[in-house]
Amino acid sequence: MKNILVTGGAGFIGSNFVRYMLQNFDYRIFNFDKLTYAGNLENLTDIENHSNYKFIKGDICDKEFVESTIKENKIDTIVNFAAESHVDRSILGSREFVVTNVLGTQVLLDAAKNLGLEKYLQVSTDEVYGSLPEDKKEIKFTELTPLTTNSPYSASKASADLLCNAYHHTHRLPVLITRCSNNYGPYQFPEKLIPLMIAKATDGEKLPVYGDGRNVRDWLYVEDHCSGIAAVLEKGKIGEVYNIGGNNEWYNIDIVKLILEKLGKDESQIQFVKDRPGHDRRYAIDSSKIMRELGWAPKYQFPEGIDMTIKWYMENEKWWREVMSGEYMKYFEKNYSSKIK
Ligand code: NAD
Ligand code: TYD
Repeated sequence: MKNILVTGGAGFIGSNFVRYMLQNFDYRIFNFDKLTYAGNLENLTDIENHSNYKFIKGDICDKEFVESTIKENKIDTIVNFAAESHVDRSILGSREFVVTNVLGTQVLLDAAKNLGLEKYLQVSTDEVYGSLPEDKKEIKFTELTPLTTNSPYSASKASADLLCNAYHHTHRLPVLITRCSNNYGPYQFPEKLIPLMIAKATDGEKLPVYGDGRNVRDWLYVEDHCSGIAAVLEKGKIGEVYNIGGNNEWYNIDIVKLILEKLGKDESQIQFVKDRPGHDRRYAIDSSKIMRELGWAPKYQFPEGIDMTIKWYMENEKWWREVMSGEYMKYFEKNYSSKIK
């Protein structure tokens, strides 16, 4: 039986991954999370008493605690989700992004090396590839696309990927990297596009669309990202990178209109606001490698996934209202007050 340290397991994708692994594999899952504003144990109340699950509050930058946790729990594998993950926050201030995303990854890599772990999987993002032209739909990011980073967030994630690569080449550390497109689904913090728009539409508020709304993102249902990571963990070739995506490109404005329509709301709620500085125009992922080599395929198509997501937010209003209070309100004021035109 494997003992897997899932860092950042109380966040959006991490909590979905913890649940997915407990439901589909007989592994022990140790969720190691600092519980920042984005980490929430409420995301895991349904499995908190599972016999193969343990929560450990900790910071991935804390070398001593990371190493003692690995030793005490006989960890053989790390899957690293822990990160500062929101582009807009990285524009307001990038320090925490460098600390957690770069230094934290370095601490985990060192621990994996020093303690001889069997596998280290870095959960990365398609944002490390930069931006694609809007009008050349045939071009997508492949694993060979050069890294080009335009936001402090993507720069920190790319730096972490480069460190992973270096530990593999220099120290022969058994590293795997996944790079996924935009996720959506249950438990996503309502600072990201889809849950933010669901919350604002519900409350009859303005929906802030950056720039002309014609930036393109490739959306994947979160459970499909989790199954992709599991496939890479089980069958991926050590030292390799695997892209994971939904083959599902949308203009932001169309997603916003779709959400309004599904909630029976009027498009007059849309408010175009000042663009995000350095806003990447288009992301699109070529997932043919993971599909061909590991037999992975997404289970959910967008029409089903978005309905499931909207339904979840409607049924879990208490969850998002709670996370949207407090610290979040200060961020919201800071990020959006200068954007309203
Ligand atoms: P999230 O912001 O919802 O969650 C991040 C989690 O990491 C939180 O639980 C937080 O408490 C924890 N964390 C932060 N700093 C920590 C530290 N120093 N030590 C321990 N825990 C810490 O993020 P998410 O959207 O779930 O993304 C998870 C990972 O997937 C990130 O690495 C992100 O770059 C990557 N990713 C996200 C997307 C997406 O669409 N959200 C797409 C591709 C890749
Ligand atoms: P986001 O969910 O922040 O993900 P990312 O920037 O990592 O792709 O944003 C998705 C897209 O939605 C992105 O093009 C920015 C845009 N966006 C808005 O138009 N308005 C908003 O209030 C937010 C949060 C995002």
